[in-house]
Amino acid sequence: MNDRTMVGASVSMATLSLYEHTGRQLDRLCEAIGFDKIDKRPRELLRQLLGPGGARSLADPPLFPSNVADDTTPVEFSLAFDTTGECAIRVLGESIGTPTQRDFLDTVADEYHLDTTRLDTLGDLFLPDGERQGPFSLWYSLIFRAGRDPKIKLYLNPQISGPAMAAPLVSEGFRRLRIPGAFAPVIEHALPRREQDSFAFFALDLDRGPRSRVKVYVAHEAAECSDVERAAELVPGIDPLQIREFCAFLGGGKGPFRDRPLISSYSFIEGDRDHPSNYSLYFPIRSYVPDDGVALARVHAILAQYDFDGAKLDEAIAAISGRRLRDGVGLIPHVSLRLGEFGSGITVYLSSEAYRVMPARRRPVLGIPL
Ligand code: TRP
Repeated sequence: MNDRTMVGASVSMATLSLYEHTGRQLDRLCEAIGFDKIDKRPRELLRQLLGPGGARSLADPPLFPSNVADDTTPVEFSLAFDTTGECAIRVLGESIGTPTQRDFLDTVADEYHLDTTRLDTLGDLFLPDGERQGPFSLWYSLIFRAGRDPKIKLYLNPQISGPAMAAPLVSEGFRRLRIPGAFAPVIEHALPRREQDSFAFFALDLDRGPRSRVKVYVAHEAAECSDVERAAELVPGIDPLQIREFCAFLGGGKGPFRDRPLISSYSFIEGDRDHPSNYSLYFPIRSYVPDDGVALARVHAILAQYDFDGAKLDEAIAAISGRRLRDGVGLIPHVSLRLGEFGSGITVYLSSEAYRVMPARRRPVLGIPL
């Protein structure tokens, strides 16, 4: 029996295509969260995003190893709990087998009234012709909320021309987007450790309007909780205690967190000049737990702390996976905390595991010291 057949579906997963498998998961997820079943846009957008490679059978090896998820599946789901009481379902994805990574955008831009002017402003920086480096060139996020039109966000790779060019690209990006004063404070708060802090993503919301965000993400290798507290301080009004508590609940302490980097992001909206209006911390929980049973227990604890409905998460997990949680690790790859004036909450990421379930690590056994 391979890992895929462990997923409790009636049809052997091996006979499904990547799109059929992830599309079913998305349908079930939307149903679990109470979205209108009539709305076929989530599934159709996923199909368009994956592109021709979505039709490839899961029995065949992936065309290339996507970095979206650990098992190379080019899709990752997430469930965002917001303090407004709203819940969003999101899909992070990468196109497979399209002539260029921009094809998806060109396909859906008119239908979804997307504003690509900021991308056009940055294109030559982040999507250069010729040789590219790093783990990806363009990723997309599809964002679905009950009773609202889908939103689309895109991620660019600051490492595309190599690590030495990452900071200059972000700096020039900020300048072109008319937030040049934001660069120095970001460096000071989020990248003071030179070798260990690096720009990971540069993201743009594609909707028009004053709340449409520019986001920049920084990975912190071997970070202590105090490193991300310092990063969070750039956003006025954030209580560092919330950051400390988040690290303690999910990672069991103050760090250092050496197995996989913690990630910070800042969001800038219209009117933000030197200070971003939101900060998010992404905790790669899968690297700090033996299995997903432990991960889920920790996530429940932090959701309860903010009065979010943990039962919704259980239903979301049941919608995308039938395996026993303790049989693998990585179904919950990250958990993030969003803080700031324009939207606070917790987001729980959920892996498709279309290609593989990552094996659980050994759990401590009662009475036998490790
Ligand atoms: N898989 C990559 C990682 O773990 C990229 C990634 C996917 C990611 N989803 C994410 C990073 C959510 C941070 C948060 O780094």
